[in-house]
Amino acid sequence: MAIKKVFVIGAGTMGNGIAQVSAQAGYDVTMSDIKDEFIQKGMAAIEKSLDRMVKKEIIQESEKTAIVARIKTTTDNKDAKDADMVIEAAPEILDLKKNIFKQLDGICRPDAILATNTSSLPIGEIAAATAKPERVIGIHFMNPVPVMKGVEVIPARQTSAETLEASKEYVKKIGKEPCEARDYAGFIVSRLVDALMNEAFWCVMDGNKPEEVDKAVKLCLNHPMGPLELCDLAGADVVLHGLETMYEEFGERLMPAPLLKNMVRSGDLGRKTGRGFYDHTQK
Ligand SMILES: NC(=O)c1ccc[n+]([C@@H]2O[C@H](COP(=O)([O-])OP(=O)(O)OC[C@H]3O[C@@H](n4cnc5c(N)ncnc54)[C@H](O)[C@@H]3O)[C@@H](O)[C@H]2O)c1
Repeated sequence: MAIKKVFVIGAGTMGNGIAQVSAQAGYDVTMSDIKDEFIQKGMAAIEKSLDRMVKKEIIQESEKTAIVARIKTTTDNKDAKDADMVIEAAPEILDLKKNIFKQLDGICRPDAILATNTSSLPIGEIAAATAKPERVIGIHFMNPVPVMKGVEVIPARQTSAETLEASKEYVKKIGKEPCEARDYAGFIVSRLVDALMNEAFWCVMDGNKPEEVDKAVKLCLNHPMGPLELCDLAGADVVLHGLETMYEEFGERLMPAPLLKNMVRSGDLGRKTGRGFYDHTQK
């Protein structure tokens, strides 16, 4: 099936990025949210991102105008009725996503692909909430969407080969590279990054200094950011929640390190509370 119309649910951090890259690739895009103010904020983020591209001479002003013109907005998900592909980027709450997919069942054409941008929730369970689970798939973009090249594509057990192929085609058409992952907690990316962060917590518990752990990972493994800096950026509570999900799925080998739990209990969540592995109060 040729995909022409893409409907993005949610105009937040991920949704507006997905709408932007889809419009850049020439798709007719509709971006929805529950309130007009969220849509305005999403459109402003798209304009700002495109302005940066104009400034860097990656695109011209006329292209920016054409890209923005390809994005329609709505507060009614019923407007997904003629979409070829829906990409849901609503908050990471399983019941909310299942309800959205159930609702889409009654709205979308029977051959439309229904994708979720979840970072960790089970695609199979979201698919099971619909009458046509074979057309449901995970398409997990990375943040910031316009910058990151890799996109995880996660077929559930129920997903058809056609849905998988069409989804990979879409990812390639927007200039990104699909990485096919299996439908287990954290897929590939979240699972590996959580494992790295968790081992870094144990390194600190073993007496290593946080700055030395981060320096070693950046300079010896060539990562752009150290795992403890990343934890401070994401928030220790968010990281603990992710690790608890992995622990439930994979058992002891992804058991959250006691130091992380201790930090969350003490409110040392990272940048958002001013203190995590580092002091952020002076910045
Ligand atoms: N932020 C990240 O770094 C990141 C990275 C990869 C994946 N994700 C995943 O992407 C999804 C979205 O995350 P985000 O950071 O963009 O969240 P966000 O909170 O920035 O945006 C979510 C938006 O969805 C809207 N929304 C809620 N219910 C809706 C509905 N029924 N219809 C239309 N819009 C609705 C909200 O009003 C909000 O504007 C989550 O599943 C998250 O786990 C996030």
